Order: sequence, then structure tokens, then C-alpha cells
Amino acid sequence: MVQRPAIIGRRRKARLRHKCAFGLSKEMMHRMLRVDHAGEYGANRIYAGQMAVLGRSRTGPLIQQMWDQEKKHLSKFNEILAENRVRPTALLPLWNLAGFALGASTALLGKEGAMACTVAVEESISEHYNSQIRALMESDPERYTELLQVIKEFRDDEMDHHDTGLEHDAESLPGYWLLKNAIQLGCKAAIYVSQRV
Ligand SMILES: [Fe+2]
Ligand SMILES: [Fe+2]
Repeated sequence: MVQRPAIIGRRRKARLRHKCAFGLSKEMMHRMLRVDHAGEYGANRIYAGQMAVLGRSRTGPLIQQMWDQEKKHLSKFNEILAENRVRPTALLPLWNLAGFALGASTALLGKEGAMACTVAVEESISEHYNSQIRALMESDPERYTELLQVIKEFRDDEMDHHDTGLEHDAESLPGYWLLKNAIQLGCKAAIYVSQRV
């Protein structure tokens, strides 16, 4: 009972030393890429769900435009995962269904519902990318120049999507804050498990 925390402490210190001397550990890097891929995959499924409901409405082209950018994000992370031999999360089948269901169900509330979902999800993804940018910058910015460039570019796209949602009346949805918080709680849980499983 007394020894256990000491062992964990030594391991943490060793990991920290490793991080300082050689950039992020392989395990940390794999987690990072796995969760990014999962996020882009989920985002694609959300927009697919929104399009299934609102594709023929006046909002269709706007959603399609954001979806097209998500397709590019996902294909880039597919490439990065293959290049680095990182396995995707085992939960892709779940994100496939959950993403589509979230996109379609919020779109059933109307354009404002879809936009509220977009604001919530894109804010979460932007914050997630920002924390990764901080971690890479603190670790070894020169070594990760290319990855940093990709993540910064995608973060900017996600922020544009977030702003698009706000510009298209997300906040006028009744129960907006409740829905936004619920979706963001789900995003946090999805990020947590996608890094690990
Ligand atoms: Fe994206
Ligand atoms: Fe996005």
C-alpha cells in the first residue's frame, strides 16, 4: 500500500524526463493522433446526419460546405495514421452511429438545432486542438512543425464552423445552453475514451 504511489511517482518522473529529452513519447503521440482521427470521423458523421435531414433545405449548401472541409480533415488524418502505423480507435463503429444520430436528431429541431450542435461540437474540437498545439509547442516545436501546421489549419477551420453556427442563429434555439452543455459533455467523454480504446 505504501510502495504503490512511489512506483507511480517514479514512472511519472521517467515519462517527464522522456518527454523533455525526446519530444512526446510514442504512446502519447499515438493517443494524440488516434483521438484527432476519431474526432474528424465523428464530425463527418454529424454532418452526414444533418444533411440527411436538412440536405434539401436552404441550409443544405452551408452544411455541405462544412462537411466538405471535414472530409479533407479526415482524409489527412487517415494518411497520418497510416504513415505512423497508428491504429484507429476501436470505437469507430460507435462514433459512426452516435455521430449520425446526433447530427440527424439536432437537425430535426430545425436549422437552429443543427447550428447549435455545430457550435457545441466545433468549440470542443477547437479547444481540444488548442491544447494539443500547446503540448506540441512545449515539447519540441521544431520536430513537430508539420503536424503543428496541420492542427493549426484544422483548428482555424473548426473555429470558422463554430462562428458559422453562431451567425446562423444557433443561440435562438430554445434550450440552447442546455443542449450545448450536454453535447460538450458527450464530446469530452468521447475524447477521453478515444485516446485510450
Ligand atoms: Fe474537422
Ligand atoms: Fe469542423
